Amino acid sequence: MNLILLGPPGAGKGTQAKQISSKYNLPHISTGDIFRQAVKSGSELGKLLNSYMTAGKLVPDKAVIETIKQRLYKDDCEKGFLMDGFPRTKPQAESFDTSLKEQNKVINRVICINLSENEVVKRLSGRRHCSKCGANFNIVTQPPRVGEKCDHCSADLVQRHDDNEETVKKRIKVYNDQTSPLVEYYKKTGVLVIVDGARSVEEVFKEICEIIEKQ
Ligand code: AP5
Repeated sequence: MNLILLGPPGAGKGTQAKQISSKYNLPHISTGDIFRQAVKSGSELGKLLNSYMTAGKLVPDKAVIETIKQRLYKDDCEKGFLMDGFPRTKPQAESFDTSLKEQNKVINRVICINLSENEVVKRLSGRRHCSKCGANFNIVTQPPRVGEKCDHCSADLVQRHDDNEETVKKRIKVYNDQTSPLVEYYKKTGVLVIVDGARSVEEVFKEICEIIEKQ
């Protein structure tokens, strides 16, 4: 099963991807996570990626396409994959189609999680993660038990650099301008399904599972 999760920043792609990946045993491939790892390494490439990400801009297509090509050839993608945050532009989608064709693979479903701009800003300004163990929290929708401390290891919770209101607004504009045309792109191929993300994590997950199991 080859799946893509599409949708605006903060729609819940990462949250859903973790559960889908675990239930259906699919590798969760998040370009955002791959780039954040590179930033953490402190490499020259990481510094360059960081400059795009903190500005709320997209990383250039060439770098993204190369990253995904290398990832697709890993053994764990043989039985399927779950893309989270890729593709994000038409050139990325076209190049991905070509790579899949070369490997005799197809995209089975593109699941687009929709969420209003107001809700996106609310969710992203509340998102936190533990500086030590990485556990995820949200001070609005999934608050920690004590202050801004991790429930598991008591370390401080921190905010992603691109989750401040100003950068979030830029990311939403980038999504509307450059990524949302992919909804039409995948509608034409008949693989697109739209899911309402403005419900509980459990309700969204239940619908996604039904979509996957109808395959
Ligand atoms: P990336 O990391 O992919 O960020 P994004 O797409 O902006 O998505 P987010 O991770 O912010 O949100 P999400 O939809 O995963 O929501 P989440 O589940 O966390 O990309 C970051 C940057 O990397 C980009 O800006 C770009 O620079 C670069 N990049 C990455 N891929 C690229 C590409 N292909 N091309 C070019 N550049 C690329 O949920 C958000 C919050 O809401 C959480 O706190 C969560 O707990 C909460 N929440 C989730 N679901 C619910 C719910 N149902 N109810 C209540 N709260 C919920």
